[in-house]
Amino acid sequence: MSKFIKLYNGYTIPTIGLGTYKSKPCEVEEAVKYSIDIGYRHIDCAWFYANEKEIGEALRAKIVEGVVKREELFITTKLWNNFHDKENVVPMLKESLKYLQLEYVDLFLIHWPFGFKEDADGLPTDGAASYSDVDYLETWEGMEDCLKSNLTRSIGVSNFNKDQLNRLFNNCEIKPAVLQVEVNPNINQKDLIQFCKERNIVVVGFSPLGRGSLSTTVSDYPLATILDDKIVGMAKKYNKTPAQVVLRYLISLGICVIPKSVTKSRILENFDIHDFELEKKDTEYLDSCNKNERVARMAPYKDHKHYPF
Ligand SMILES: NC(=O)c1ccc[n+]([C@@H]2O[C@H](COP(=O)([O-])OP(=O)(O)OC[C@H]3O[C@@H](n4cnc5c(N)ncnc54)[C@H](OP(=O)(O)O)[C@@H]3O)[C@@H](O)[C@H]2O)c1
Repeated sequence: MSKFIKLYNGYTIPTIGLGTYKSKPCEVEEAVKYSIDIGYRHIDCAWFYANEKEIGEALRAKIVEGVVKREELFITTKLWNNFHDKENVVPMLKESLKYLQLEYVDLFLIHWPFGFKEDADGLPTDGAASYSDVDYLETWEGMEDCLKSNLTRSIGVSNFNKDQLNRLFNNCEIKPAVLQVEVNPNINQKDLIQFCKERNIVVVGFSPLGRGSLSTTVSDYPLATILDDKIVGMAKKYNKTPAQVVLRYLISLGICVIPKSVTKSRILENFDIHDFELEKKDTEYLDSCNKNERVARMAPYKDHKHYPF
């Protein structure tokens, strides 16, 4: 299984990246430094995660130490929902670049297809009063400006459904290179992945371990499959961990994965998935876990006209 996937524009994206959502600012710097030390070259960031400054410190330190060169890294960031107006896009990427201490990112994504008013909360709770109805096609023109200004090498979207992606694909000057969406055995997205393959769009799977039931006690999240008894048993057979089995399964779908961890042993574990193959019957079991149940729902915004699910 290759450690890189080629984007349509010739750049390559490492198959495994480090996620940073909910990584506390006080923990993320060490996590990113450690991940680079052990070989990660792909870091998934976002303005909304409010930890890009600390990630920037880690990147700078590893470049200055000579552990890695800038051009060997693949850094993603994302445009948050309050800034969908076309004229906000370039300035918001510049803000992320300042935090990250970089001159360009490798990938800039529209984080969600729906927007909020600029002066609303990042996650507003007062309903439609805070919604912006800017069309993501307009936002995309700002994304294209970022690329034309060499502030990013590739552009893409996140959490777009098939219709939204298709509409964008058919109405843009520069095609999206990546779709980042939730992919784990509870929602394996095989249809969407096929749809993207046909359009030369690479899928990056977020929440690959099924974050919800791992990090909170909120009970309506689907049980993360790394806690499934059968997968726990399978992992023992391969002398691997359940997380390694799940990540291995996901990359076999032809996608990238970006597991988040601030725990050194897990950062190491999640990167060490290239030395075994799943048997057919185990792949079939993992396939059978699909129930199209997602962790990242953004349910409060269901009445937004650009809500994707
Ligand atoms: N585009 C979007 O809208 C979007 C949405 C969600 C996520 N993302 C991106 O995708 C990344 C990953 O998704 P996620 O953070 O939602 O969920 P995830 O990576 O599926 O799960 C993270 C959780 O799993 C734990 N964990 C990590 N490795 C483990 C292992 N080997 N064994 C057991 N537990 C393990 C982590 O704990 P510790 O950290 O305590 O080790 C954390 O609680 C995010 O960090 C973010 O970069 C993007």
